[in-house]
Amino acid sequence: MNFKTQICKKSKSTDKIFLINKESELKALLQNDKLEKKVKGLLAESNHVAHFFNEDGLTLVVKLSSDLETNRLNANACFKTLSQFKIQSIAISSLGKEDANYSFIEGLMLSTYTFNKYKSGSKENILSIEIEENVISEASLKALEIIVESNSIAKDLVNEPQSYLNATQFAKDIVTLGKDAGFKTTVFDKKKIVAMKMGGILAVNKGSVQEPAFVIMEHKHAKAKNKKTIVLVGKGVVYDTGGLSLKPTPNSMDMMKCDMGGAAVVVGVMSGLAKLDLPINIVGLVSLTDNRPGLDAVAPGDVITMYSGDTVEVLNTDAEGRLVMADALHYAKKYDPEFVFDFATLTGASAAAIGPEGTVCMSNDTMKTDVKQKLFASGHKTQERLAEFPMWKEYGDLIKSDIADYKNLGGPYGGSITAGKFLEVFTDYPWMHFDIAGPAFLKAPTGYRQAGGTGVGVRLMLDFLSNY
Ligand code: BES
Ligand code: ZN
Ligand code: ZN
Repeated sequence: MNFKTQICKKSKSTDKIFLINKESELKALLQNDKLEKKVKGLLAESNHVAHFFNEDGLTLVVKLSSDLETNRLNANACFKTLSQFKIQSIAISSLGKEDANYSFIEGLMLSTYTFNKYKSGSKENILSIEIEENVISEASLKALEIIVESNSIAKDLVNEPQSYLNATQFAKDIVTLGKDAGFKTTVFDKKKIVAMKMGGILAVNKGSVQEPAFVIMEHKHAKAKNKKTIVLVGKGVVYDTGGLSLKPTPNSMDMMKCDMGGAAVVVGVMSGLAKLDLPINIVGLVSLTDNRPGLDAVAPGDVITMYSGDTVEVLNTDAEGRLVMADALHYAKKYDPEFVFDFATLTGASAAAIGPEGTVCMSNDTMKTDVKQKLFASGHKTQERLAEFPMWKEYGDLIKSDIADYKNLGGPYGGSITAGKFLEVFTDYPWMHFDIAGPAFLKAPTGYRQAGGTGVGVRLMLDFLSNY
């Protein structure tokens, strides 16, 4: 982590952040008419974030908002100022409410993330955050740190290139993360996947020299509130070349190390849940492989038999995500789950429809409305927003094959939905699908989100599950 925090009575740092509710609070705070006037002017012209130097050091003044995302973004503006002046220790005091303070500190913590593993000579840069008493409770701060750390775990995994993170290494990393956080892991290697007849995963893996893996993560709690298990499923295509339906270079392949973003979300959430010790029973399932056009690769036109026994005509080997996800969704049936959420960088169509602003989601008929409402509320609160697409049955007609039960390619429209419809075939439980192809990976930073993996979905899920 690139930050450390401490709650204290009196801060030692000479550089300070003051969080206020309204300009009228400046008088008592600054006790200097001239400075008060100057800060008011700065706040007005710079979108509620002002900074000035005095003999002690830097002071930042931020006007809090009732909109949590505004506070996170203003924290990012502060972080940029701190970086500009190479400040490594800051004290925060506030006149605001706890949830506004929380979102500000969250924005500051999220802003500190970096991925420096492959940069020669990079130094650790740790921001020390001293928080005055009454700004945030000890318990909320601890939970917040775990949430931000879980988000960083997902970001790290997405940012790792497949030159390190192939399927086998990914499985090993999950085992290590499980030991650290306290969730149980079981890894199926290729031999086991063959024995299980997981035909979707094996078809995608056929053109690869690397072996696939299927990982089961379990978090059980003695005081679990849910009677039936909750299952999370993630797409873990560690690299998607498109296979024989090769993606055109350079534009569409260069970021395809992010195609395991769904699996990264599941791992991040499992780690967070275990560390937060949330009273729920939950299982995470991830299908891991790369998608390559090797000599023995699955070819357009091939018919494969899935783990469920259904047959699929593979018309486009670049629509591989739904094949690996289908086997995991079928596996999830054995838990008789309360509901299943799946995360996948599944379709370019989702990214084209709403871009990085949110996650496209879809659900089947048995998914309860109140659970969905809670998900949308968490999406709004965490700014990991959800946009639901329709799952009308006519879209299902587009994935019927002439020669097999289904085909892995839809029609000329509704690309996200036909992919969702394909997944739905393999569910028999309440289910919601999250297509994170748009927001999982950014080419340029925006606000507190860095370029690269965003870990989108982790904060959403941890908020939802904490309130479940
Ligand atoms: N991994 C891609 C989807 C993707 C696109 C993820 C952009 C992140 C950013 C997926 O496997 C894919 O290639 N989908 C195809 C499906 C099509 C062939 C039906 C797509 O969206 O073009
Ligand atoms: Zn693909
Ligand atoms: Zn893919």
